[in-house]
Amino acid sequence: MITNEFWLERWQTGRIGFHRDEVNPWLMQYWPSVERGAKVLVPLCGKSSDLLWLANQGCDVTGVELSSLAVVQFFGDNDLTYQTESHGDLKIHTADSMSLRIVEGDFFQFHETGFDACYDRAAMVAMPEQLRQPYVEHLLARLAPEAKVLLVVLSYDGEQSGPPFSVLDTEVVSLWGDKVHKIASEDLLQLDERYQDSERTFYEESVWRVMP
Ligand SMILES: C[S@@+](CC[C@H](N)C(=O)[O-])C[C@H]1O[C@@H](n2cnc3c(N)ncnc32)[C@H](O)[C@@H]1O
Repeated sequence: MITNEFWLERWQTGRIGFHRDEVNPWLMQYWPSVERGAKVLVPLCGKSSDLLWLANQGCDVTGVELSSLAVVQFFGDNDLTYQTESHGDLKIHTADSMSLRIVEGDFFQFHETGFDACYDRAAMVAMPEQLRQPYVEHLLARLAPEAKVLLVVLSYDGEQSGPPFSVLDTEVVSLWGDKVHKIASEDLLQLDERYQDSERTFYEESVWRVMP
């Protein structure tokens, strides 16, 4: 059972194999063109460097993350000072020197709207099956009607040992509707022996865009 406590414990015990120090190459290659100052939502952001990359493109970035450790590590690792305000169950941590904030708390308790764009890497695939549709519905409700979305998804066969969970192409389309398009993919099984498992015939990372 994947609960909030599961994730908090992963951070407490440093089991954060999903984290990459470098900016995600798919993000740099496929981030859509958005206006300067566009409000960008990064759900389940961890302490990802992708937040910084987006802010450096001129976006007004909001990450949402459950773990206070992730938040403290993000600002600490990047030498950023910040201010914190409490809003009900959420804490909003705003960087002093750039247009970037991390909302600490449960994404399902985050109700701001009007985001112009969204970047989801390892977020939808972190959601167990029963929460995946509620997650996408809650995310879509945060976005402006013309919002652009970049999604990085994983799909694999063999043992379903998530998170990350396997989300097949058909499920991506059924969750996101007919505006979602697959724009790139790579079979990690061919590239990295960590994904090689005798039962698996594919372990694909794919990139999807939702464009108005
Ligand atoms: C697989 S990690 C991905 C992190 C980040 N997107 C990245 O690329 O490194 C999923 C993150 O979502 C956070 N998380 C899980 N459930 C959440 C929820 N309901 N609300 C906010 N954050 C959540 C976890 O603490 C974890 O940091």
